Amino acid sequence: MQFLAFAGLLASSLLAPISAAPLEAQVETRDFGGTHWVDTWTSMPQLTEPANLPNPPFNQTGSVFVNSTIRQTLHMSIGGPQIRIRLSNVFGATQLNITAVTVALPFNNSAGQSIIETNTLQTVTFSGNNSIIIPDGSLAVSDPIHFPIKAQSELAVSIYLAGGQLGNSITSHPGSRTNSFYQFGNAVNAANLTDPSVQAVAHWYFLSAVEVWSPPQARGFAIVGDSITDGRGSTTNANNRWPDLVLARMQKNPSTKDIGVLNQAAGGNRILADGLGPNAIGRIDRDVLAQSGIKYSMIFEGVNDIGTAPSDAASQDFVYNQLIQAFEQIITRVHTFGIPIFGATITPFSGNVTIQAYSTPEREVTRQRVNQWIRTSGKFDAVLDFDKVLRSPTNQSMLATQFDSGDFLHPNPAGYQAIADSFDLNLFNRFAGGVSSYM
Ligand SMILES: *[C@@H]1O[C@H](CO)[C@@H](O)[C@H](O)[C@H]1NC(C)=O
Ligand SMILES: *[C@@H]1O[C@H](CO)[C@@H](O)[C@H](O)[C@H]1NC(C)=O
Ligand SMILES: *[C@@H]1O[C@H](CO)[C@@H](O)[C@H](O)[C@H]1NC(C)=O
Ligand SMILES: *[C@@H]1O[C@H](CO)[C@@H](O)[C@H](O)[C@H]1NC(C)=O
Ligand SMILES: *[C@@H]1O[C@H](CO)[C@@H](O)[C@H](O)[C@H]1NC(C)=O
Ligand SMILES: *[C@@H]1O[C@H](CO)[C@@H](O)[C@H](O)[C@H]1NC(C)=O
Ligand SMILES: *[C@@H]1O[C@H](CO)[C@@H](O)[C@H](O)[C@H]1NC(C)=O
Ligand SMILES: *[C@@H]1O[C@H](CO)[C@@H](O)[C@H](O)[C@H]1NC(C)=O
Repeated sequence: MQFLAFAGLLASSLLAPISAAPLEAQVETRDFGGTHWVDTWTSMPQLTEPANLPNPPFNQTGSVFVNSTIRQTLHMSIGGPQIRIRLSNVFGATQLNITAVTVALPFNNSAGQSIIETNTLQTVTFSGNNSIIIPDGSLAVSDPIHFPIKAQSELAVSIYLAGGQLGNSITSHPGSRTNSFYQFGNAVNAANLTDPSVQAVAHWYFLSAVEVWSPPQARGFAIVGDSITDGRGSTTNANNRWPDLVLARMQKNPSTKDIGVLNQAAGGNRILADGLGPNAIGRIDRDVLAQSGIKYSMIFEGVNDIGTAPSDAASQDFVYNQLIQAFEQIITRVHTFGIPIFGATITPFSGNVTIQAYSTPEREVTRQRVNQWIRTSGKFDAVLDFDKVLRSPTNQSMLATQFDSGDFLHPNPAGYQAIADSFDLNLFNRFAGGVSSYM
């Protein structure tokens, strides 16, 4: 934008008479001393699967959320004096008409509330307009909102769509682990959603990020992952996914308290192939590199690639080779921007094939081979050995019983806390200067 303005001035100054003022004097420069926008919250956008669309009558064949208000609560990571909201239509097949948006603090500053503190309510605008038409495949950034937020606080965002979105392809994040509410009519300013049509669901729709106006030292840490990072097995409305628990530790440490922790994970996600959300190789550009203020990244993924590949040795050998090449590709791409990327080892999933279909000896061999590569190849800037944290001391192919949510794969809140406790916060100082973009 500034470059375009500059180019325009340059072009006109070439045509201008010689007596024109020096170019520098005509360029408006605003020096914010390094203050910048940094993401404080994200949710990985994905094409909503049929079962995760809203329930009828909010879902009809051919349109979704007609004449509907959606109220959603989000867990901020870092605080600041002003915020911006990003809405995503990246997976919509038609334009997304947003009619009105408000922000407020939720009642009791807690997640999953339908009630807001009306004295904090503010109208959100988009380039000065209360409404915006977001073309398919794109996103909208709100104007700055003078809405001070605290680290680890909750924000309520209410969205009204007069006409809904045409078609049944909409952008959402099903694994919110947080209750959202929707009802008919425009209730973005209402203290509570009380229409008889109101429904509560643990999904987020359309919201993909909140940015905060931050001092120069503030920066973001994007985490690419699957259901284990998305928080399956954590407590709904409690924000006890492992990244939330690492954030809580980071907030107590002066050298990490200005780092936004950005959960870019989705249940079922794979590195090599689409399914529940696009494959991780394909989404790195959007979910990591295009985020605001990103200075660190990590990937904790691969279990669904191993688990959905056939269990025979040849198929597993193939998926092993593909995963290693994919990790190298992702590392190369992220390093191009001088951003370090940490790798986490894949945690156990064996135990009982009736309960956990991934559980076979051949897949355990692949998991061990991939983890060996993650630990010893030196390709990741640092290794977070979550396998070592969660595995059983008596059988390394299984989760320790006290960390198992019951399906032999997803940790319970104690497991998520153990991951968070093991996280080496010194990594953020060690890589504060970024990495070489050579490889
Ligand atoms: C929503 O409607 C679409 C199109 O009719 C259908 O495929 C999908 O199963 C519906 N989902 C829900 C939750 O009603
Ligand atoms: C208020 O917040 C506290 C702490 O988050 C929570 O334990 C409590 O359930 C909340 N109360 C209500 C009424 O939601
Ligand atoms: C705001 O956008 C709507 C369409 O979304 C348009 O009808 C209206 O003219 C716009 N208002 C202003 C002030 O630009
Ligand atoms: C979105 O807005 C455009 C322009 O006003 C309009 O033609 C279209 O019908 C609207 N779509 C919906 C679903 O309301
Ligand atoms: C939208 O929903 C509200 C609340 O149910 C209702 O009063 C209103 O008539 C509806 N508007 C339209 C255009 O259907
Ligand atoms: C808020 O609305 C919900 C229905 O969505 C209702 O169950 C609840 O009692 C209301 N709370 C208050 C304080 O009115
Ligand atoms: C470890 O667990 C796996 C999966 O449950 C099982 O097949 C294997 O026999 C166990 N090994 C030992 C030494 O208990
Ligand atoms: C595996 O789980 C099934 C279903 O709960 C149970 O019937 C079976 O006994 C379990 N197998 C083992 C080896 O524990």
